[in-house]
Amino acid sequence: LYARRPRPEYIPGVIPDPDYVRIFDTTLRDGEQSPGATLTSDEKLEIARNLAKLGVDIIEAGFPIASPDDFQAVKNIADNVGNEIFEDGYVPVICGLSRANPKDIERAWNAVKGATRPRIHTFIATSKIHMETKLNKTPDEVVEIAVNAVTFAKSLGCDDIEFSPEDAGRSDPEFLYRILSAVIEVGATTLNIPDTTGWNMPWEFGGLIKKLRENVKGADKVVFSTHCQNDLGLATANSLAGALNGARQLECTINGIGERAGNASLEEVVMSLALKGETHFEGGPGTGKLYTAINPVHISSTSKMVSEYTGMICQPHKAIVGANAFKHESGIHQDGMIKNKSTYEIMTPESIGLMRGDNDSGAGIVLGKHSGRNAVGTRLKELGYVLETEKFNAVFARFKEVAEKRKGGLEDEDLEALVLDQAGNINQ
Ligand code: KIV
Repeated sequence: LYARRPRPEYIPGVIPDPDYVRIFDTTLRDGEQSPGATLTSDEKLEIARNLAKLGVDIIEAGFPIASPDDFQAVKNIADNVGNEIFEDGYVPVICGLSRANPKDIERAWNAVKGATRPRIHTFIATSKIHMETKLNKTPDEVVEIAVNAVTFAKSLGCDDIEFSPEDAGRSDPEFLYRILSAVIEVGATTLNIPDTTGWNMPWEFGGLIKKLRENVKGADKVVFSTHCQNDLGLATANSLAGALNGARQLECTINGIGERAGNASLEEVVMSLALKGETHFEGGPGTGKLYTAINPVHISSTSKMVSEYTGMICQPHKAIVGANAFKHESGIHQDGMIKNKSTYEIMTPESIGLMRGDNDSGAGIVLGKHSGRNAVGTRLKELGYVLETEKFNAVFARFKEVAEKRKGGLEDEDLEALVLDQAGNINQ
């Protein structure tokens, strides 16, 4: 359904092909801010390596000032994944978040500087409510703090600096023009526009990106980025509206995890661009035939890994990666699927790395008490779980206990529950 195109050269603040959209993944930072989603340093490293395999351009590895553990985890990712070469010869950018003060910024720099491509991401709130009640600062003071922060980051030797006006979605556009023009002047290379509270409609958010590109001084020297929260279920739509209006970096997380209702989900943004990027985005810079360098075949396994390690289970009808996303229940749908799979599928399960199950092809196996290790292991692999021997042994032992009592065998959801259950036991 779509052809992959080569990734253009990475230059901070410049994208040599204006149709290329960078994917910035913040699963390890904003995603980990989901209540209860704590990850160990080893799990973070493994997820980061998978994100790089998936083809993510920029990995936001954490918030180094938050704790010594977070610092170590970011440093570990920068020193390792940040120097490894992936599928298309690409070394991912490793980014650390910091508030707009020298202590945070220095800590972030010390964590990421071992990477081949280190980035500092610094932010300060710009909406009236945040400036007055949270920061207790005047707009003039906020501009000064932002300019000093970017200047300080640059003085450390960092040439890839992202600045975010937090709560931009509820900020005065005129104030955004002022603060963004000022940070460009002192060296910001990516301007990320967060809809921190998920307040914007797609047409409002797209309009904001357009206005910023037209009114910020030096806008042609930087990459505009989106960071959309999902409080109204519009994070993916808002990110795509941003791309339609010229944003060329989209921030997202695997499975859409994140603060409150979560973030734009990587798999939704990426598959939307993979399926419709060639035809639906005219209006921004370039020809409007948008593309990313993500290899979607790794989406399913990355989603499963994030779900297993964070304990954040996807709802069954979650777009792209939910357990039901490629299942067909009604007789009419099954009839259509048998005749031609495109009747009810706009993408194939294989395109995101899933093997077709027995739900629509008539093939497949029933897993019951007589099934052996091979059958269970094969089905788990088909579902995207590649388990280490110790984990697989624990899942298989539990499978046998449950299958003894279950008439009609175990469904895929039961198997997935056993994997998640065992992951919980092993982590305790
Ligand atoms: O939601 C938000 O505003 C953020 C910024 C730090 C980018 O996470």
